Amino acid sequence: MFSASFPSHVTLVDVGPRDGLQNERQAVSAECKLELVHRLQAAGLREIEVTSFVSPKWVPQMADNAEVMAGIQRRAGVRYSVLTPNLKGLEAALPCKPDEIVVFAAATEAFSQRNINCSIAESFERFAPVVEAAHAEGLKVRGAISCALGCPYQGEVSADEVEHVVRLMKQIGVDHCGVADTIGVGTPRAVQRAMERALKHYPLVEVSGHFHDTYGQALSNIYACLEMGIHTFDASVAGLGGCPYAKGATGNVATEDVLFMLNGLGISTGVDIDQLVDAGAYISGVIGRPPASRVGKALLAKRDKVAA
Ligand code: HMG
Ligand code: MG
Repeated sequence: MFSASFPSHVTLVDVGPRDGLQNERQAVSAECKLELVHRLQAAGLREIEVTSFVSPKWVPQMADNAEVMAGIQRRAGVRYSVLTPNLKGLEAALPCKPDEIVVFAAATEAFSQRNINCSIAESFERFAPVVEAAHAEGLKVRGAISCALGCPYQGEVSADEVEHVVRLMKQIGVDHCGVADTIGVGTPRAVQRAMERALKHYPLVEVSGHFHDTYGQALSNIYACLEMGIHTFDASVAGLGGCPYAKGATGNVATEDVLFMLNGLGISTGVDIDQLVDAGAYISGVIGRPPASRVGKALLAKRDKVAA
């Protein structure tokens, strides 16, 4: 079993504005998305996944990508990332000056076809020039591997299938490898087995976890990653989200929930829980649902009690 020391600092990447909102049926205005980004950075988030440059026919909620990117009041030290599945997406994204771009592949052929309309091999043919062009612009490239712990179409996914995609990422020069549990079915040992494969090809600092919390396993899975020394995690404020091509998959693990656990473990993040809870309450109000974050709900209830 891989062994490394428990991290003292964790980087949280809030993917709420992108992964969180992409699946919302009702249109969320660019103004509200910007308010969310501003609240997240005010809370101390230093990595924010803002939007995606994908087909607006496939994901209408992200059609305002350029408007949102243009409206950000940027803070020094904050990195703003965007998804770019192909050269067309990258070309549209570049004038918006992202700090980082994300290419997203799948560990299974079935999910690759449903999500990006091509095979795994074809997806890497598309990504290779994207990575090259992004590097030429001085941009970092993050890769995401969907369905690394299970697939809504194929079912179980093996660590070998994950490593196959990790290798492809490495071959085309992707800088960072994100291992994603799209449908939230992973459990701690299975997550460690998948992460071990990523760590065979990428250093600790360039491996991250992205856990949807559909089956309530995400915090345990993050803890299992911490045991391996992994110290970068995606999360969505208020537990927003889901993937349009993974029916029934709920949102990412809530950033508030991850932060509460990390605070309890004495691991620094630079994020303020009260401001983060406010950001979660704000966007939950916009979409008209209570926050999916247990911590968010608990802290809001505690405030109400104190105020009463
Ligand atoms: P395609 O249909 O195979 O592409 O889509 P195409 O090259 O044949 O083009 C077809 C049409 O799309 C053309 O327009 C293109 O111009 C347009 P038309 O002539 O029909 O009017 N097009 C684009 N428009 C805007 N931006 C682009 C773009 N590319 C082509 N970049 C494509 C391929 C990937 C674009 C499509 O399948 C797509 O947009 N899929 C959506 C994928 C998506 O956003 N999924 C959700 C995000 S991934 C995720 O959530 C998982 C993650 O969180 C990790 C996890 O949890 O697993 C990251
Ligand atoms: Mg996701």
